[in-house]
Amino acid sequence: MKVLGLETSCDETGLAIYDSTLNDGKGGVLAQVLYSQVELHATYGGVVPELASRDHIRKLTPLLDELLKQANITKTDIDAVAYTKGPGLIGALMTGALFGRTLAYALDVPAIGVHHMEGHLLAPLLGDDNINFPFVCLLVSGGHTMLVRADGVGQYEILGESIDDAVGECFDKTAKMLGLPYPGGPNVEKLAKNGNPHAYTLPRPLLHQGLDFSFSGMKTAVHNLIKDTAGSDDDPTVRADIASSFQYAVVDTLTKKCIKALKQTGLKKLIIAGGVSANLALRTQLEQALQKVNAHVHYAPIHLCTDNGAMIAYAGFCRLNMGQTDDLSVACVPRWSMESL
Ligand code: KG4
Ligand code: ZN
Repeated sequence: MKVLGLETSCDETGLAIYDSTLNDGKGGVLAQVLYSQVELHATYGGVVPELASRDHIRKLTPLLDELLKQANITKTDIDAVAYTKGPGLIGALMTGALFGRTLAYALDVPAIGVHHMEGHLLAPLLGDDNINFPFVCLLVSGGHTMLVRADGVGQYEILGESIDDAVGECFDKTAKMLGLPYPGGPNVEKLAKNGNPHAYTLPRPLLHQGLDFSFSGMKTAVHNLIKDTAGSDDDPTVRADIASSFQYAVVDTLTKKCIKALKQTGLKKLIIAGGVSANLALRTQLEQALQKVNAHVHYAPIHLCTDNGAMIAYAGFCRLNMGQTDDLSVACVPRWSMESL
């Protein structure tokens, strides 16, 4: 079965074909294309929703042509269409959803609306049959920070989440304060590599209180640190030390909460997913810390951590496999709890 996946919830137009017959029936990605709007939004220091929607509309058709060419198939070989139905920017979601729903109707194949965060959560399972349910998932993206207990596709219990900013957002804001371009995460990580993670101590809010997170105070802490080091903040070592200390505080907080979640659930398997799971410091620290408690961490290859069409195609496939399809109506959901799935 070949499922076309469409991701347009924010600033990436991602399309992919998931083919369940690949790899001796284990399934895999037949082809994928991705267009990032980063340059379009860079001038504004963040995503401008209306510009995002307009650009998705411009890119969807040529990207589909490119995808089919790469996969060496035609439209009529598509067996189903999966599109991101939410959460995300409503205008951006509507472009992919209408494009996908209409295409499915024209091809007379089923269509399914996918939860973006379920797409992230299932991405590490794509092509790795060593990972099976149940597990704890740390979902860390630009808009979400959650610890989820996953017992199966659609069986999710939120164990904890951020009460304010998401981790990715925090990386992006810190990058901005350090004068680094958007999106901040990969740029902060790059700068942090040359810094000392112990140069400055940054706060770890709610560290000893349950499984919720709070990152809004981090913004002020980084702001104050930059102010306190004013004059020396154009010194590359100081900037790298700030980036490194910030990253260390975030990674340390996430690691401790993950261990707490594993302890609370009695599970020994952790999946990390979403854009921030591409961060190598987070991966390394979790690997080391989990080894000590006899647990394991799994993650997707970097290109499947940040937004992409393959994760939507795969989540769509899992849902279709369970006999689910969506009718002809297109109702996108900008705010959507995973627990309601
Ligand atoms: O999952 P994603 O691509 O989009 C959303 O669903 O939000 O996540 C994007 C977020 C951005 O905030 C970006 O700065 C962050 O993930 N990110 C990273 C890294 N790569 C992307 N954060 C830290 N380190 C990275 N290497
Ligand atoms: Zn995402």
